[in-house]
Amino acid sequence: MLKNKDLLGLQYCSAEEITEILDGAVEMKKFLCGKARKSNLLAGRSLVTLFYENSTRTRSSFELAGKLLGASEVNISSAASSVQKGETLIDTGETLDAMKVDYIVIRHPMAGAPKLLAEHVRASVINGGDGMHEHPTQALLDMFTMREKFGFLNGLKVAILGDLKHSRVAMSNAFGLNKFGARVYAYAPATMVPKAFERLGVTVAKSREEAVEGADVVMGLRIQLERQNGGLFPSLSEYSKFYGVNDDVLKLAKKNAIVLHPGPVNRGVELSPQVIDGEKSLILEQVTNGVAVRMSILNLLAQYREKNL
Ligand code: CP
Repeated sequence: MLKNKDLLGLQYCSAEEITEILDGAVEMKKFLCGKARKSNLLAGRSLVTLFYENSTRTRSSFELAGKLLGASEVNISSAASSVQKGETLIDTGETLDAMKVDYIVIRHPMAGAPKLLAEHVRASVINGGDGMHEHPTQALLDMFTMREKFGFLNGLKVAILGDLKHSRVAMSNAFGLNKFGARVYAYAPATMVPKAFERLGVTVAKSREEAVEGADVVMGLRIQLERQNGGLFPSLSEYSKFYGVNDDVLKLAKKNAIVLHPGPVNRGVELSPQVIDGEKSLILEQVTNGVAVRMSILNLLAQYREKNL
């Protein structure tokens, strides 16, 4: 049983809670990939996706997850909502609460916005990515994909390369993987590695080779051009040459290593096209797993609400 009405970040989740979500996702994936893809598990529940930033995967997979389990769902994009008329986040949340919504999945450019919302609504708030802070459901699907491939997380070497400075995905993976004894190595230009990373138990590698050598998992992160003012590296082609992952770099990883990327990918920048489309790549499997993991989260939060609210 989850211990909170909300899912705000992996820093707040215990290893037991994470295991419960991942175990639940195993069953949900069987259902998702099976023939009878309709359930009434969440019949009568309602889900709102409230996105103040663009999204393809997170928003649509939550909507699909809810629908497959029988919940009704509504999408609100900030561009088409009363936010444009000056409505505050809390007023928006209280309005949705008054409609008896069960879940609000929020993506917001400000770190901490989901927590603020959660403190003011009865609905379960799920963080779909807040600024440069956390993206817990992405890290959960990453961990699910690793556990599905290797059967365990403890001791895995996970190399994360890319825009660590702006990455909520890296932050949530660091919190989550650390709780399971995985060894996380990070590599990026020094201008793109936040100081806080080492305090999260991540080894900041001195070279790309040190990060990737013997890795079980090689995770590329998108260069978030929209969150930076430039000047962190000379050019995209130099970034790709010195910090990106191509087939030669990947040869340093273990023979059975897997390649992950949260998407969307800047093709040929953080990962070469050959790596993205290569046999080690599980990038599209991550997308499938994202639906299963989000189904599991909705189900477990419904159980919490049934018992506690
Ligand atoms: N990985 C991820 O968050 O993708 P979207 O921006 O498409 O949701």
